[in-house]
Amino acid sequence: MEPFYVTTPIYYVNDVPHIGHAYTTLAADTIARWKRLAGADVFFLTGTDEHGVNIERKAREDGVSPQEWTDRIAPRWVALWKRLGISKDDFIRTTEPRHIRVAQQLFQLAYERGAIDKGTYEGWYCPSCEAFYTEDELLEGRLCPIHKRPVEWTAEENYLFRLSRYQDWILHKIEREPEFIQPESQRNEMLSLIRGGLRDLAVSRLSVKWGIPVPFDPAQTIYVWIEALMNYLTAIGYLDHPERYRRFWPTVHHLVGRDINRFHSVIWPCFLEAVGLPSPRQVWAHGFWTVDGEKMSKTRGNFIDPIAEITRLAEASGAQWDVAADAFRYALLREVPFGQDGDYSHAALVHRFNADLANDFGNLLNRTLPLVARHFDGQIPAPGAPEGPDGGLRKAAEEVPAAAGARIGTFEFTRGLAEIWRLLGVANKYIDEAAPWSALKAGKPARAGAILYNTLEALRIATVLLTPVLPAATQRVWDQLGIPAPLSAQRLPDASRWGGLPAGARIRQGAPLFPRIETRPAARIPSTKEGAE
Ligand code: ME8
Ligand code: MG
Repeated sequence: MEPFYVTTPIYYVNDVPHIGHAYTTLAADTIARWKRLAGADVFFLTGTDEHGVNIERKAREDGVSPQEWTDRIAPRWVALWKRLGISKDDFIRTTEPRHIRVAQQLFQLAYERGAIDKGTYEGWYCPSCEAFYTEDELLEGRLCPIHKRPVEWTAEENYLFRLSRYQDWILHKIEREPEFIQPESQRNEMLSLIRGGLRDLAVSRLSVKWGIPVPFDPAQTIYVWIEALMNYLTAIGYLDHPERYRRFWPTVHHLVGRDINRFHSVIWPCFLEAVGLPSPRQVWAHGFWTVDGEKMSKTRGNFIDPIAEITRLAEASGAQWDVAADAFRYALLREVPFGQDGDYSHAALVHRFNADLANDFGNLLNRTLPLVARHFDGQIPAPGAPEGPDGGLRKAAEEVPAAAGARIGTFEFTRGLAEIWRLLGVANKYIDEAAPWSALKAGKPARAGAILYNTLEALRIATVLLTPVLPAATQRVWDQLGIPAPLSAQRLPDASRWGGLPAGARIRQGAPLFPRIETRPAARIPSTKEGAE
């Protein structure tokens, strides 16, 4: 199986993280965990973007040096990912020496190859985007189209990357490789951007001091975006781990929000081409979360903190904090198809928790384990010869792993989860129909045992498939099932084969994982489109 390298954007250290940042990282974590489950050699990278005028100013406002500022903020990101159970293999900071070396070397190489030369650049600059805009890209009143804040006129002598020379090359690449940019809507947007003409790009700044010096002209610093993109090469060991670099490059998937798609799918491949390195395998540019239809921002006061959301869910339900974190992750991935925009609402999170996790998933455990405890001495009963509805359940359990894998493995989380929920739905219906309690009353304990076995086996398979999305909750389910083999050692497709549940294993009943949250009877569950109540 091909090695798999997945990255998130490296986030700016000018702000505190919100659910948008958490979303990209949770999605990357889910795919990384899925690929590991499928047996791939995985490298999962995230980190922080620490240079540039925006951070320089932020530090000045705060009365500290930019280095002090970044040293203070970067650990907060590390701590957030730890709390959210992010299984990253590395965390890169662009102020690290290993990165400065790579940035200077690649910049030098581009210069030597004639892709960078000196010129003058004038344009409107948005410090929040760290990017130039043309007059017609701006909104009324010369506002940045993304931040809706005033842009600044900048005119400097600096180094230009001859991006325009690569226009035909990148156009043909994107036309030839339909999978290179996902989703389709983002691919089309990039195609029309390129067809509109690519302008050369200023890749150094004279007035910005907080950056990596241009190696052959230290009065200038390397433009933060060009340097930031190189983090993906630094971390994989372009300079210091040649073996690892060769294994994982270019099988890299860059996960980003659509706001920064053009940097990843146009500028970055062109720069790599200029220095003679292969392009990433794929750029996946997902949609944006809004709150009540508005862009999240501190000034608007509609900034949603993932930790606060999870804590609120944990407190309302009594669920363990890590289980509530799983629910948050599940709701984000399930509510809105990856690639589309969505409006965040706490009510939708509560609804997903109650309906999908408590009723469909958790209940399967609550309906079976007490019977196993009471009538089978706490041991998983033996499977019997199939009869009646057994075949239908087994068929679903045999179809769903491949169907879910085909979706989740290609970032279609919503549809992949719907497949797994199909199996949970069939299992819940099965236990209703097959009614082990009636078999017990009728004096057929072996049949009751077989029904319980089948239900728990379907649950076991669903649990394995859900580990990438619900890493903490699935571990707790696994513990309750009492399966001796560790969950972390399970690999597809073997782990999803029917019959893997060991009869005789001793269950360990515990408290319900997803205690239902009582919502006010009058409360109506709004759809995600309508936003919060
Ligand atoms: O752009 N909905 O960093 P950044 C969904 N440092 N995702 C969102 C979001 C929202 N409302 N808001 C932010 C930068 N994101 C650069 C990246 S990479 C070489 C350099 C996510 O801190 C989304 O992934 O502004 C978006 O692309 C990213 O955060 C921007 O993070
Ligand atoms: Mg941003």
